[in-house]
Amino acid sequence: MKISDVKNIAVVGAGNMGHQIATLCAMKGYKTVCTDVKQEVLEKAESFVDNYLPGRVKKGKMTEEQAKQARDNIRFTQSLEDAAKDADYVIEAVIEVLDLKRKIFADLDNIAPEHAILATNSSFIVSSRIADVTKRPEKVCNLHFFNPALVMKLVEVVQGPHTSDETVEISMELCNSLEKVPVHLKKEVDGFLLNRIIRAIFNEAQWMLEMGVADVEDIDKACVYGAGHPMGPFRLNDLTGIDLAYTMAMENFKATGDFKDLPSPGVVEHYIKGEYGEKTGKGWYDYSDKK
Ligand SMILES: NC(=O)c1ccc[n+]([C@@H]2O[C@H](COP(=O)([O-])OP(=O)(O)OC[C@H]3O[C@@H](n4cnc5c(N)ncnc54)[C@H](O)[C@@H]3O)[C@@H](O)[C@H]2O)c1
Repeated sequence: MKISDVKNIAVVGAGNMGHQIATLCAMKGYKTVCTDVKQEVLEKAESFVDNYLPGRVKKGKMTEEQAKQARDNIRFTQSLEDAAKDADYVIEAVIEVLDLKRKIFADLDNIAPEHAILATNSSFIVSSRIADVTKRPEKVCNLHFFNPALVMKLVEVVQGPHTSDETVEISMELCNSLEKVPVHLKKEVDGFLLNRIIRAIFNEAQWMLEMGVADVEDIDKACVYGAGHPMGPFRLNDLTGIDLAYTMAMENFKATGDFKDLPSPGVVEHYIKGEYGEKTGKGWYDYSDKK
C-alpha cells in the first residue's frame, strides 16, 4: 500500500481527541467517518464541526468552498461497522482502557478491509499490547496526536516489533499530509517520547506543591515565564484531563509495579472528587466562570 491509496479514514471515539482528529482529516481532503458509542458525543462533535469550519472562513484561514468540501468529507455514526467498513486507515481514540481497545481492534480487524492500517492514539498503551488480537499485526501502530489535535503539530509514530516499515512510512506520510510534524519512535517505550519528558516535569511540580514550596499558580508561572512553555504543568494537566493522568499513572504502575509510578495524592484527590480539569469545570484551577 502507498499513501495515495489512503482515501477513507475512520476515527473511533469522538471525545476530546477523536472529534478534532476527524475534523483535521476531513479538512485535509480525506473522506472521514467518526464513530462513538454515545449519541450525545457525536452530536457535540458534529456541532463543533458546524461551528469550527465557518469560524475558519471568517478568520480568512480557508475559503467557503474549502469549508464546504471539508463538511462534505465528514460524517458521524454510532455504528463501528459503518465507520470502518471502507476505511483505508483507522485511528482509534476511545478512553484509555486496554481491554476496551483490544475488543475494538478485534472488531476492527473483522470489519475493516484487509489492507487497512489500524492505529491507536493511546497516550500510554503501546500497540504490541493490542496488535495480537488482529490477524494483521504488521499494520498496527501507535499514532499519538497531542491535545488540541487541530493545533498541536507533533505526532508520535511508534513502531512496535510487529509493525512493518511500510506501516510506519504510510503513517509518517499521512501525518505530513495533515500538515503535522511526525517523529518516528523506533522502539516502544511506556509514555512515548514527549509525555515522558512532561511527566518528569509534572512529578517535580507536584513534589514542590506537596512540600509547600510554591502554589499551583506560581509553579505554572515559573514554567511559562522562565522556561518559555506555552502553559504550566498544572494548567496542562487540567487541559488534558486529570482522569487521563490518573489512568495513565495506574497503567504505568501496573506495568512496572513501582510505587513511584502511582498517581500522586493530589491527582488521586481530584480524581475521586470527579474534578478532571477544564472539562468538568474544576481541577487544579476553577473554571466554573467559563461554564
Ligand atoms: N486528552 C488528551 O490530552 C490526549 C492526548 C493524546 C492522546 N490521548 C488519547 O486519546 C484517547 C482518547 O482520549 P480523549 O481524551 O479523547 O478521551 P475522551 O474520554 O474525551 O473520549 C473518548 C471517547 O471514546 C468513546 N468510547 C468509549 N467506548 C467506545 C466504543 N466502544 N466505541 C466508540 N467510542 C467509544 C467515549 O464515548 C468518549 O466519547 C485515549 O487513548 C487517550 O490516551 C488523549
